[in-house]
Amino acid sequence: MKVLDKKSDIRSEIEDARRSGKKIGFVPTMGFLHQGHISLIRRAKEDGCFTIVSIFVNPLQFRPGEDFHRYPRDTNRDLSMLESESVDAVFTPSTEEMYKKPHLTEVSLSNISEKLEGAFRPGHFRGVCTVVTKLFNIVKPDRAYFGWKDAQQLIIIKKMVSDLDFNIEIIPAPTVRDPDGLAASSRNTYLSLQERKRALVLSRALQKIKEMVEFQQITDAAALIECGKEIINSENVELQYLEAVELENLEPVHTIKKNTGVLGAIKVGNVRLIDNIIWE
Ligand code: PAF
Repeated sequence: MKVLDKKSDIRSEIEDARRSGKKIGFVPTMGFLHQGHISLIRRAKEDGCFTIVSIFVNPLQFRPGEDFHRYPRDTNRDLSMLESESVDAVFTPSTEEMYKKPHLTEVSLSNISEKLEGAFRPGHFRGVCTVVTKLFNIVKPDRAYFGWKDAQQLIIIKKMVSDLDFNIEIIPAPTVRDPDGLAASSRNTYLSLQERKRALVLSRALQKIKEMVEFQQITDAAALIECGKEIINSENVELQYLEAVELENLEPVHTIKKNTGVLGAIKVGNVRLIDNIIWE
């Protein structure tokens, strides 16, 4: 497994792989890997791709006062996990390598970037889209893998790829959950044992909504959201949003059907957590 921190080195490594006839599969990450990332890597490997993982905590997607400085980092642990998964190459650029100064160009999508997460984290998706565009231009993957856990991010990236004519197939993968139901996330490490118990209310509410839709055939979005909110508000957490939306454009829907989802965010102490259920 090659670990490279220069754009020029990762580019030539990828060119060699491409010349040998391999498809390039790319899993962008901010490190502190968990089973969600591993499932994306396994999917890329199963697809027969030369598999590249990037580890870069992107300062541009954190707002002042957010957790950029305390975001969990453990590159040695990440690299040994990636080695065990037989990843072909890892790109670990520094901030200076990624953003040569002055860096004046940003990529942003109007409308869908401002809803849900965007309303609570203005500018977040501009940072995500800018770094993902740069990474796509460096790696030039055939396929890039993203988890449904960050549903809004996935939807925005798919739209960006289509709008900007990137010749990249975006492969979505299901959310991976811990045995207690909590969606895998690097930020789970911030939770104390007590907070973790409280945090489970979000996946519990979503699971209840899923059961109501799938077993009781209740599809009225307002009724489902009301029930979900009641469950979340019964716990000592701050509900930030819980909304039923169309997956393509994140517009609110009245009825749950194919291509809709319920997306939610809560704050447990100082920790923000997101989760969702989708009907693809
Ligand atoms: O999902 C993430 O970890 C990040 O937002 C991403 C896509 C790696 C961009 O920094």
